[in-house]
Amino acid sequence: MKTIIEPFRIKTVEPIRMTTAEQRESILRDAGFNPFLIHAEDVLIDLLTDSGTGAMSSEQWAGVMRADESYAGASSFYRFEGTMRELTGFDHILPTHQGRASERILFELIGGKDKVVPNNGHFDTTRANIEHSLAEAIDLPIPEARHVSDPHPFKGNMDVEALERLIEQTGPSRVPVVFVTVTNNSAGGQPVSLENLRAVRACCDRHGLPMFLDACRFAENAWLIRQREPGQHDRPVRDIVRDMFDLADGATISAKKDGLVNIGGVLLLRDESLFTGASNLLILTEGYLTYGGLAGRDLEAMARGFREVVEDDYLAYRIRSVEYLGRALTDAGVPIVQPPGGHAVYLDATAFCPHIPADQFPGQAVVCGLYRLAGIRCVEIGSLMFGGEGKSPPPLELVRLAIPRRVYTQSHIDYVAEAIIELWQQRETLRGLDIVDQPPVLRHFTARFVEREPAG
Ligand code: F0G
Repeated sequence: MKTIIEPFRIKTVEPIRMTTAEQRESILRDAGFNPFLIHAEDVLIDLLTDSGTGAMSSEQWAGVMRADESYAGASSFYRFEGTMRELTGFDHILPTHQGRASERILFELIGGKDKVVPNNGHFDTTRANIEHSLAEAIDLPIPEARHVSDPHPFKGNMDVEALERLIEQTGPSRVPVVFVTVTNNSAGGQPVSLENLRAVRACCDRHGLPMFLDACRFAENAWLIRQREPGQHDRPVRDIVRDMFDLADGATISAKKDGLVNIGGVLLLRDESLFTGASNLLILTEGYLTYGGLAGRDLEAMARGFREVVEDDYLAYRIRSVEYLGRALTDAGVPIVQPPGGHAVYLDATAFCPHIPADQFPGQAVVCGLYRLAGIRCVEIGSLMFGGEGKSPPPLELVRLAIPRRVYTQSHIDYVAEAIIELWQQRETLRGLDIVDQPPVLRHFTARFVEREPAG
């Protein structure tokens, strides 16, 4: 069979609300043309993020009921720990409430003034936590990552020569860790190859530096390695996952992605003294070692989610549904970041709206256009998210369509493709936006806009 179906059937349904074009017009205006300010119940298909928005399985819900809510030593913690140990081989495993909590603990311990942290592509919370510690965050993607249509199979790879140069320039003592984000969310959800991870590891070894993974989407990365990397096609995905973690000295994980849960995070460490420091900080701000800011039921859901995510049927369906949307758009001539990544399809807003300059936010114009046309919500990743006073403009103007896990069916995805193709056909009607109100930091969440009048 060539159709890859959703490997689940539906036991509980959640209605989604159709709106009229007139309703959407006034909702959009009331929200100041910022979809973050739209109430979720006014959204038909929500592609704002794949984080915490997945559907849990019946096994996970059964675990929620069975969970042990003891303060210390809960059996749910040990089940979570067992799953993570089996999957990653790590001995030191701390639960946290989400990815950025793991990042905050880690960088409080190893960040600081004059330190430099390289990454293939920092996610914004990772960068913010590094900068909060007064260290500097540097992105070192391969050059191909900056070219939207380049079909390189591993556009998430790190530029290892640039890493080598950076370490030589700054001196290894200023580099507390080298981070690799799998998959690279900021660069289109693109995977990192095993070959590249090994090359980064070798570079770290030459300079005596630890290598960490930002492993939020480790399973999607492993599946793409299996599909795309020579010599990996016949290997069990769990073995590839293990190879990835075996190369690392530690990892920060948001379980809201490949943990298949609505809340949760993990910090993995090998170094004994770092583990002691992290344990102390965990108790200080998150919670005791065996719950880390979560309820027992969250740990139970993670214990099961991290197993389900490495099942072949799930990953085949997951990656296929993203690729399916990517292919439908590509076939219709809609410009997207090629090849489609693990968790999202990214539209190229510059090609979509050549008539809208970067300072009028072409990506946000597409985001608003898609909501207005079809009630679909997505997010700008370009001059709005990364620009602002004193910042250099980002290399790409993108719109991310993040696909929640196990939530939407093929007909939902067909609807999304149809809507985007229709928007593409009427793209000259999209209008630029001006900011009328914005906060000093992370402005994309709450900024308000007015729309420009149509040209001519
Ligand atoms: N690292 C990466 C690569 C991420 O994509 C995220 C979250 C985090 C760290 C932080 O994890 O949200 O659990 O604190 N990304 C979400 C997104 C928010 O929409 O891409 P968190």
